[in-house]
Amino acid sequence: MPDLREMKRRGDKIAVLTAYDYLFARIVDGAGVDVVLVGDSLGQVVMGLDTTLPVTLGDMIHHARAVRRGVERALLVVDLPFLTYQVSREEALRNAGRVLQETGAAAVKLEGGTPAIAETVRAMVDAGIPVMGHLGFTPQSVHAMGVKVQGRDDANRQRLKDEARRLEDAGAFSVVLELIPGDLAREITASLQIPTIGIGAGVECDGQVLVLQDALGLNRDFTPRFLRRFAELGDAAQAGCGAFVRAVKEGEYPAAEHTFA
Ligand code: KIV
Repeated sequence: MPDLREMKRRGDKIAVLTAYDYLFARIVDGAGVDVVLVGDSLGQVVMGLDTTLPVTLGDMIHHARAVRRGVERALLVVDLPFLTYQVSREEALRNAGRVLQETGAAAVKLEGGTPAIAETVRAMVDAGIPVMGHLGFTPQSVHAMGVKVQGRDDANRQRLKDEARRLEDAGAFSVVLELIPGDLAREITASLQIPTIGIGAGVECDGQVLVLQDALGLNRDFTPRFLRRFAELGDAAQAGCGAFVRAVKEGEYPAAEHTFA
């Protein structure tokens, strides 16, 4: 975490990708990301759910344990899923502690910046649990806010700036800014000592995060404006599976070299 703050000070950009299993964790870590995030986006990209809301603490712990085995150098952060930190401070502390103890992750991430959430962040930080915040579009509130860019009017811009400051004051070590205008992200980034990590928040955040399956073109129906695909693994995987099916049906695989004498 001190390294991330130092990267912000030096103006070095921070690269973050999600991962949900061991093999992709090795690939992502080996590629040189600074932070691996086990996001509750696993609800959509791994479990096929419509939202992150049904994801449980058990789901997060299960996937984070697998990811942990594949991460050697990056900082590992795990999302606290819906209703694991909002009900009471005591429950929030226990759940965040379980994530660190049972997965080996270094930090948790949670959504929102109300005074109540900031108090929870402070309690976690006091207990030695590093916390990453998440503001702007917060997927666990999708029914309340809809999937749209946040902070377009003056009142909401000010609210987001206040929330970012509140999270920093509460001891968060970084904050994700999702789906907010680029100029607002720039202002928030300039006003904080802690690094901001953007997704759909323009280039002036201290770092960027993408969901791995989106970045690699595995989630082929997902085409939001902010996304660049850095590979087309969905097409490659479909072609590879098709080639297997054809080879089996034509009796061409396995060949002699795949067969034991
Ligand atoms: O769940 C997730 O993957 C996230 C990132 C999009 C920041 O929260």
